[in-house]
Amino acid sequence: MKGSIPEDKIEEVRRRTDIVSLIGEYVTLKKTGKNYLGLCPFHREKTPSFTVSPDKQMFYCFGCSEGGNGVSFLMKLNNLTFPEAVRQLAGKVGVVIPDRPPSREERERSTLGEQIRRVNGLAADYFAGALQSPAGEGAREYLRNRGIGAEAISTFRLGFAPEGWRNLLDFLDKKGVPPKLVEQAGLAIPRAGEGERGHYDRFRGRLMIPIEDVDGHVIAFGGRVIGAGEPKYMNSPESPVYTKGNNLYGLSRTREAIRQAGFSLMVEGYFDLIALWSAGIQHVVATLGTALTRAQVDLLRRYAPRVAAVFDPDEAGRKALARSLELFLAGNVHAKAVILPDGHDPDDYVRTRGREKMEELVARALPMVDYYIEEILGGRGTLEEDRDKLREAVAFLCRIVDAVERNLFIKKVAETLNVDEGVLKAEIQRTRAHSPAQMPAEQMRRKAPTEYDSVEMSLVQMMLEYPNKISVVAQSGVLDCFRTGELKSLGEELLAASLEGGATKDASVFVGSLSEGPLRNKLLALLVRESPYHEDLIDRLMADAVRQLRERANKERGRILTRKINEAKKAGNQELHDRLFAEKNRLLREEKELS
Ligand code: CTP
Ligand code: MN
Repeated sequence: MKGSIPEDKIEEVRRRTDIVSLIGEYVTLKKTGKNYLGLCPFHREKTPSFTVSPDKQMFYCFGCSEGGNGVSFLMKLNNLTFPEAVRQLAGKVGVVIPDRPPSREERERSTLGEQIRRVNGLAADYFAGALQSPAGEGAREYLRNRGIGAEAISTFRLGFAPEGWRNLLDFLDKKGVPPKLVEQAGLAIPRAGEGERGHYDRFRGRLMIPIEDVDGHVIAFGGRVIGAGEPKYMNSPESPVYTKGNNLYGLSRTREAIRQAGFSLMVEGYFDLIALWSAGIQHVVATLGTALTRAQVDLLRRYAPRVAAVFDPDEAGRKALARSLELFLAGNVHAKAVILPDGHDPDDYVRTRGREKMEELVARALPMVDYYIEEILGGRGTLEEDRDKLREAVAFLCRIVDAVERNLFIKKVAETLNVDEGVLKAEIQRTRAHSPAQMPAEQMRRKAPTEYDSVEMSLVQMMLEYPNKISVVAQSGVLDCFRTGELKSLGEELLAASLEGGATKDASVFVGSLSEGPLRNKLLALLVRESPYHEDLIDRLMADAVRQLRERANKERGRILTRKINEAKKAGNQELHDRLFAEKNRLLREEKELS
């Protein structure tokens, strides 16, 4: 698949990519020394161990061993294929990759996900066009009445699916998209009746809201009836590119504002988000009416460590709050609870009261923990109610993984519910003992360390960091002295690469292309740190490493020769003895030269 993008374009994309600004789009990075540090987007952590090196154009996480270059970062983060990641990067750094239509063969090879994203993109364009067509007048009026202007329409790529059974199917057919693929994208439904053939459009006569991933690929659609009607919303089913609960609506358009604000405002609906955005509150995301998931918390934390989430004051809202709070705590996100007056949602609140009132409400929001303890657990009820609350509190406290945090809550809860702290603790102990042991994710991911010879490793590292010095290694023949087969073949590859193409293959590309495994991780970990090999000293350091390795090899050879000489003597083989003896002398002379 690499073949669909010319090699020189790939090179150019790599050259122009700055890994710090690339990763900085997804992870909040802080400069420390020469490198940048942040919270790893690939595993859950409280202390940053995700390191980005601008010098090496590499990243590495010391917590979970994910690492690589800019292309591999995008591949991992967004689950992309190599060409997809290169194309995306090309767009970011302004390299034009000729977008010739894929050949039949390429189409067959490209992944289903890639194809679905393309079909969704085409469909979004179609719906956007239809909204501006005469057929879209009703939908345009509906949007006008809801106060949604041209800027929001174009930012969120709002569209319209006209009435009719084959509008989109026909449009896509002209673009060469087979109905089966439209079905796989969730945009068409196969006719199910007996003897019936073909497909029909899933979305008809609806206002269309594209759901994008963080990078703006359309992965699904929500379709709202214009005005009243059932069902109010119709959504794309799950597909290879869309898993409910893995995405947050609007994030592709709001992540920059979220980063700048340092927190995000979390709402439920499409229109809540669009209304807030239109009112100038743009650091918003929407969960789309489903229960918050860990994946969403993890996603959100990449952009800001704080969240203000809007909840209804009713029973369902309280339940949602309790569940979300657990996730925020586990995900190390500081959460506040924004409670709107009964009967309001953020959309109508901001439109009727205005931006300032909304912002005041957010500013006054209580930490979610306090809200939970005071409003949900607090207040005395009947004996039964109190007992239920205690039970709920215990269940809640049991799920707080962090022991320090748990103890803090136990104190607060004990006070609020007016129970003895010791009793509460004992109750928690008892409950925890009955639930399956929790194995922290970080512990599970840590892999057993593999040992490599340190001198061999450092020589390989120097070769990677100073490709123009590789000739020293080539001349010394020192690779033959390596004990670690893996390092030896790596060294040989480096030699070969430097012979054929000079220094074009830099370390990040080279290591990035190694297959996953302990050696790759080890090298990434070494390379991402500031180099211990200073340029002024590199000649000496390299010569030193070469000498050490050769000395070691000579000593080993010497030991073997001595043994063989003794054996030859015992066996009375004078000729063999003399030959071995001469060789040992040669070896000794060589050793002297070395030192
Ligand atoms: N939702 C859905 N299907 C439904 C109802 C709701 O998918 N039948 C999702 C939508 O993503 C919706 C969110 O849940 O945006 C919140 O639901 P709701 O508050 O009912 O919708 P609003 O976004 O407020 O829509 P509107 O203001 O147009 O009524
Ligand atoms: Mn609403």
